[in-house]
Amino acid sequence: MIKHEIFEKNSIVLLIGILLVVSIGGLIEIAPLFYLESTIEKVKGMRPYSPLELAGRNIYIREGCTSCHSQMIRSLRDEVERYGPYSLAAESMYDHPFLWGSKRTGPDLARVGGKYSDEWHTEHLLNPRGIVPESIMPGYPFLLENPLSYKDIKEHLVSNKMVGVPYTDEMIETAMDDVRTQVDPDADTDGLLARYPKAQVRDFDGNPKVLSEMDALIAYLQMLGTLVDFSAYQADGPNQR
Ligand code: HEC
Repeated sequence: MIKHEIFEKNSIVLLIGILLVVSIGGLIEIAPLFYLESTIEKVKGMRPYSPLELAGRNIYIREGCTSCHSQMIRSLRDEVERYGPYSLAAESMYDHPFLWGSKRTGPDLARVGGKYSDEWHTEHLLNPRGIVPESIMPGYPFLLENPLSYKDIKEHLVSNKMVGVPYTDEMIETAMDDVRTQVDPDADTDGLLARYPKAQVRDFDGNPKVLSEMDALIAYLQMLGTLVDFSAYQADGPNQR
């Protein structure tokens, strides 16, 4: 009792006492993080984006799709029932910047891959109201006309590598070719698929003559949420691994 009086009667001593106690708590929380290699649990199937998907992602960012669409399914029942398995940290581990978003004017897109056909996406992006009459999403018809500019795609891979995405030298070297290969159903795709398993190879926008921005954006959308095989994680109920 008497000793505590020192703290109660002297605000400076009390302040130092508080700092000491709080910093012990802080250290216990923070210090272990410096000794962990990664705080993200690894999951099977995640791989860096193929150069075409990465180019599509860049267009997604450029056009501000994030301002209306989130890419993060929360672990709430209604979201899981509507969109599918909740998002795992590992699923955005190669996202620089991440695109979780904070606004859902439109639906979450984290698992939109495979939900619709390429034709649906092309029509919808050209004129959303042609498909969903009450939609307030803007149309992006120019994406179909704009040839994809990908001469700097190597640099995009290099900068992603600098922030930790495991692109190999081979991936960087073949990036330009990989963009072209992924939209060409007649191409030899062995190399591409070895580098980027599950990459979908086809002409995405219905116009094989032009490698358009639409091709890249749809390749990206059709990949979203398809890399991790959730049937392997869900056998015993929603929260079991
Ligand atoms: C002004 C807000 C807004 C912007 C910006 C926007 N969207 Fe949408 N989006 C919506 C709304 C609202 C819907 C739901 C109605 C519909 O399907 O059109 C939607 C629906 C979608 C769907 C269908 C999702 C589903 O599961 O049914 C996709 C895919 C999509 N948007 C992609 C995009 C892409 C790609 C961009 C950027 C090029 C974009 N959106 C920009 C508002 C927006």
